[in-house]
Amino acid sequence: MSSAFRKVAIIGLGLIGGSLAAALRARGLADSIVAGGRSARTLERGLALGLIDAGYQDLAKAVDGADLVFVAVPVSAMADTFAAMAPGLAPGVVITDGGSVKGAVIDAARAQLGAHRSRFVPGHPIAGKEKSGVDAADAALYERHRVILTPTPETDPAATLVVRQMWTRVGAEVLTMRPDEHDRVLAETSHLPHLLAFSLVDTLARQGDSTEIFRYAAGGFRDFTRIASSDPVMWHDIFTENRDAVLAATDLFAAGLARFRDAVAAGDSDALLGVMTRANSARARFLAMNARTSYTHIYAEQAMNTDSQRTGSENAANPVFVVQPGAQLSGQARVPGDKSISHRSIMLGALAEGVTEVEGFLEGEDALATLQTFRDLGVVIEGPHAGRVRIHGVGLQGLQAPSRSLYMGNSGTSMRLLMGLLAGQPFDCELTGDASLSQRPMERVARPLRDMGAAVSTTDSGGKGTPPVRIRGGKALKGIDYDLPVASAQVKSAILLAGLYAEGETRVTEPAPTRDHTERMLAGFGYAVQRDGASVTLSGGGTLRACHLDVPADISSAAFFLVAASIAPGSELLLPHVGINPTRTGVIDILRLMGADITVENERDAGGEPVADLRVRSAPLKGIVIPEHLVPLAIDEFPVLFVAAACADGETILHGAEELRVKESDRIQVMADGLLALGVDAEVYPDGIRIRGAGQGNAAFTGGEIQSHGDHRIAMSFAMAALRASGEIRIHDCANVATSFPGFAELAARAGLQLVVA
Ligand code: S3P
Repeated sequence: MSSAFRKVAIIGLGLIGGSLAAALRARGLADSIVAGGRSARTLERGLALGLIDAGYQDLAKAVDGADLVFVAVPVSAMADTFAAMAPGLAPGVVITDGGSVKGAVIDAARAQLGAHRSRFVPGHPIAGKEKSGVDAADAALYERHRVILTPTPETDPAATLVVRQMWTRVGAEVLTMRPDEHDRVLAETSHLPHLLAFSLVDTLARQGDSTEIFRYAAGGFRDFTRIASSDPVMWHDIFTENRDAVLAATDLFAAGLARFRDAVAAGDSDALLGVMTRANSARARFLAMNARTSYTHIYAEQAMNTDSQRTGSENAANPVFVVQPGAQLSGQARVPGDKSISHRSIMLGALAEGVTEVEGFLEGEDALATLQTFRDLGVVIEGPHAGRVRIHGVGLQGLQAPSRSLYMGNSGTSMRLLMGLLAGQPFDCELTGDASLSQRPMERVARPLRDMGAAVSTTDSGGKGTPPVRIRGGKALKGIDYDLPVASAQVKSAILLAGLYAEGETRVTEPAPTRDHTERMLAGFGYAVQRDGASVTLSGGGTLRACHLDVPADISSAAFFLVAASIAPGSELLLPHVGINPTRTGVIDILRLMGADITVENERDAGGEPVADLRVRSAPLKGIVIPEHLVPLAIDEFPVLFVAAACADGETILHGAEELRVKESDRIQVMADGLLALGVDAEVYPDGIRIRGAGQGNAAFTGGEIQSHGDHRIAMSFAMAALRASGEIRIHDCANVATSFPGFAELAARAGLQLVVA
C-alpha cells in the first residue's frame, strides 16, 4: 500500500483518537485527516498540533467522503455518535472504534449504522497512559501494543482486513476475539482490578482515621491502587455497559476471596501456599507472555484465539540468532539442569508422601509445563527460585481434578509421561499442546495404556493419533507385560507410571537401552523396581517417599558445546557437573569415534545419577558409520552431531534413526534442508542421513538463512555451525530454545560464539 487512505475521520479527538491521527500522520498513511467532536476547543488544539487538517462539530460533515472512520468516544456516547454521523457516511466506508466494551457498541452500531453496519469492525486498542486529552496524543502509543478486533458474523472480512492492516502499519499487534469473549476477558483482567482498586481505596478512606492509614501505606498499597486514579466518568461507563460480565467476574473473585479468608481463618498452610504459589507462577507466565517467550506466546494465542499477526522484524516474538563466522571457545560453561530428570522430579515429588526438595531444576519451558500441570492438579509447588523447587507431595491418590485442559506447550515428555500417570486417576482430563506437539504421535502410549484397561483417546488427524488426548478416569488398571515396539524412554516411563496404579505387576521390555531416569528415580523415592536385563518390573499400590534431588547439568545441552569446542580450532572448554548416566552418553561415544578429544573428570554420584566435569579440546574429526546401538543413547544429540559430521574428514552415515522424524520437528529432513542451504553435501535416507564433511582446515558451511521450524535443538545446532562457516548464519524462529536451554545465547556468547539475538 502507498498512502493507505484518502481521508480518515477521527470522531472523538482525545488521547486515543489523537494518537491514531498522530500515528497515521507520522507514517504518511492518509492524504487527509479530519476530526469530528463536540468541543470546538479540542478541534482547534488538534489543528494547532498539526494532527488534523480540519475539524467539524457536525459529525455528518466530518465523515463526508472519508474512506475510514475511527470512533473514539466514551462507550455510552457511541449510539448517539453513530446516529449523528450516519447521514454523512460514503458508500464503502470502513468504520471502526476504540471502545473498551464490545457487546454494547455492536448493539449501537446495529441500531444506528443501517447498511453501513457490515463494514463496522469493532475494535479495542489496549493502550493508554495516565494523561488524557488531545494534548497527550502520541504517535508511538500503539507501537508494540495489542489491538483486539471483534468482528461479528455479519462483518465484511474485507473491512476487517483494512482495519487490521491499518493497526499493523502503526505498529500494533492485532488479535481477534469473539465480542462476548472480549467482554468477559476484559471484565476479568481490566474491569475487575479497577473495581477492586476503587473499592479498596474508598473503603479505607471511609474508615474513621483514614489519614493515619494512608500515612503508613507503603509501596504495595500504592502499586495496588494506582488505577484508582483513573477517570471516574469513563469507568462509570464501562461498569454500566459491561454490567453482566463485570458482575460475573466480581462473583468469581468473591468466591476466591472467601476461600482465601477460610484458609487464613483455619490456619490452613497448604491452602495458603497453594493460592500464593499458583498466583506467583501464573503472574510469571503472564509477564513472560508480555515479553513474548514461546510457550506463553502460543498459550496466549490459544487462549485468545488470535490469528497471530506478526509485524515488523521478527524480534521478540520470534527471535533470530545472528551468528558471525569463526571464533574459539574457552573457559567454563555450566549448562542448565537435565530436562528429563527435571520433569520426573516434579512428577514423582508430587506423588510422594512429604516435601521433596529439588536443586538444579531446569527452568525451561518444557519442565515448567510439567510443573504448571501439577499445580493444575492441585499440588502445592514452591519455586522455582534459582533452580530450587519444593514440592508438597500429595501421595499417589492425592491429585485433584483439573478445572481446565492441561496444556503441555512444546513438551512431548510431559504429555507422554502424564498420559500414563493420569490414566490411573479417578477423574477425567484433556491434554493439549502447541502446534508442534499437536502433530506428534501419542498412540504409541495410548495403545498399551488401553491394554491396561485405561480409557484414552487421541485425535485422529490423518491417522497419526495426535493430541488433544482425552482420558476418562475411574478405570481399574491391571498390570501388563509389554514389549516396546520402539526404543522409547517416554513410552516405557508412561507404562511404569500407569503401573503404579495398576493391580499386579507391570513389566516393560525394551528393544534397546533407553534413558533409565524413571527407574532410578522411583528407586530413589523408595519404590521397589526390579531391573532384569532389558526388562523393568514394578507392582502397583506402593508408596513414594519424598527425598532430596540434585539435578545434574543436561548432557543434551552440553552436547552443543562438546561439538562446538571440537570443531572450532584452538578451543578448550570445561563443562561442569554434567549427568553422564550411561543411557545418555552416546554423544560422547560417537564424538570420540570421530576423533574428538573429550575427557571425563571428577566422576561422582549425585543422588543416584552419575555426574562428571567434561573437558573438550578441539580436534580433527573424521567421518564414521554411526553404530546403530548408540542411536537411542544419543537420540536428542543428532542435530548437533550432524554439524560435527559436516566438519569431519570424509563421510558420516547414520541409519536406524527413524525416530528423529517424530521429534519436535522431522529432524532428519529439517537438518538436511539446513545443511544443504549452507552448502553441505547431504543425502537423506528414510531412517538416517549421509553427510560429506569438509575436513580440518576448511570452512564447512557457507553463510546463509536457516529455518529452525521452531525446534530448539535445530536452532542451537546451526548456531554452532557458524564456528566453521565462511559467512554470517541467521537462524529464524528461535523462541523455543527456551524450552530446554534458557540462557543459551548468553552462555554461548560468553564462551566465545559471536552470536547476537535480533
Ligand atoms: C525423553 C525421551 C526421549 C527424548 C526426549 C526426552 C525422556 O524421547 O527424545 O527428549 O525424558 O524420557 P523418546 O523416549 O520418545 O525417544
